[in-house]
Amino acid sequence: MLLALCLFAQGLFVQGLFVQAAAAQSLRGALDWLPPGSLNLEELTRRPQEIQTGGRQQSFFAEYGRLAFRSPDVLGGNARKAGLSCHACHPNGDANRHFFIPGLSDRPGHIDVTHALWSAKGDDGRANPLQIPSLRGVKDKPRLGFDRRLGSLREFTRNVIVLEFDGAEPDPLLLDALVAYQQTLAGEQAPEQPLHFEDDLGDFVRALGVLRLPLAEENAPLTERIATMLRSQVGFMHERFEATAPQQILESWSQDLRGIAALAEAGRWPEARDKLGALQRQARQPPAALAAAAPHSLYDPEKLRAWLSKPVR
Ligand code: HEC
Repeated sequence: MLLALCLFAQGLFVQGLFVQAAAAQSLRGALDWLPPGSLNLEELTRRPQEIQTGGRQQSFFAEYGRLAFRSPDVLGGNARKAGLSCHACHPNGDANRHFFIPGLSDRPGHIDVTHALWSAKGDDGRANPLQIPSLRGVKDKPRLGFDRRLGSLREFTRNVIVLEFDGAEPDPLLLDALVAYQQTLAGEQAPEQPLHFEDDLGDFVRALGVLRLPLAEENAPLTERIATMLRSQVGFMHERFEATAPQQILESWSQDLRGIAALAEAGRWPEARDKLGALQRQARQPPAALAAAAPHSLYDPEKLRAWLSKPVR
């Protein structure tokens, strides 16, 4: 694929800024499932700050919702295959001002969400990209959406999943969780900050805590669901490393998560809980090889820039 050519051909001058066209959360998913030019250095290396009412002290629901918000697994169709989640368009609950998919966007930060690429059901047959809104303060908005048609965050979220992005009908717990997380989003538009491996790792450590409740309540389906979401977070970190040593560490974490779900399925709860405890300790104090490899990985903007401009891979 002549990705480099496409990227440069689609570079746009917008308000005096040179913006490389595109979008994504997953590097490889976007290469495989989105039109060429759907990857953007800016959005892959910078992120708006997250501000939550209550800070890090959140309920299980809000924490589960935070993880689900970052999980492609919640959506369906090409969005899921491409590794997109709510977080790809609303990073940390704000708006992705760089998001651009050739053919579906007319300018950065705008996207047609009623397009056949996402869902045959949701396709309205019209090219109508809309600005991606920030979700900060969304809980206080009386009406939602560009047409202000819906009043309930729950209903809006359900429509986004099922109608726009072809996802499976969300169960009530998942929907409650996504709503609970969005209701915590607060603050003003804050400047974007550079994204480091440590940020993703910190998010993963935080999200591992979500597994404690289903393991305590001995709920196997929920354990499996959450473990799957966590594995996709490991995958996002994994794809940025090209060296074997860090990749193997992350693969072992992914296997551990699979193991926890299998133990839960087999009703071996104490072992499942112990395995989570061990993984939490590992992730809090990861082997030195991981941090040592980060500066040489695709978390480094210069390395990522070079990777994005490679014509064939
Ligand atoms: C491909 C990009 C994309 C993805 C993925 C996405 N959104 Fe959005 N979102 C948009 C756009 C564009 C709008 C404006 C559309 C509209 O108003 O109908 C929007 C609007 C919203 C709104 C209304 C906000 C307001 O102020 O009116 C909410 C709430 C929302 N999205 C939540 C979500 C959730 C939850 C998910 C994941 C389940 C999600 N979005 C996934 C692009 C996206």
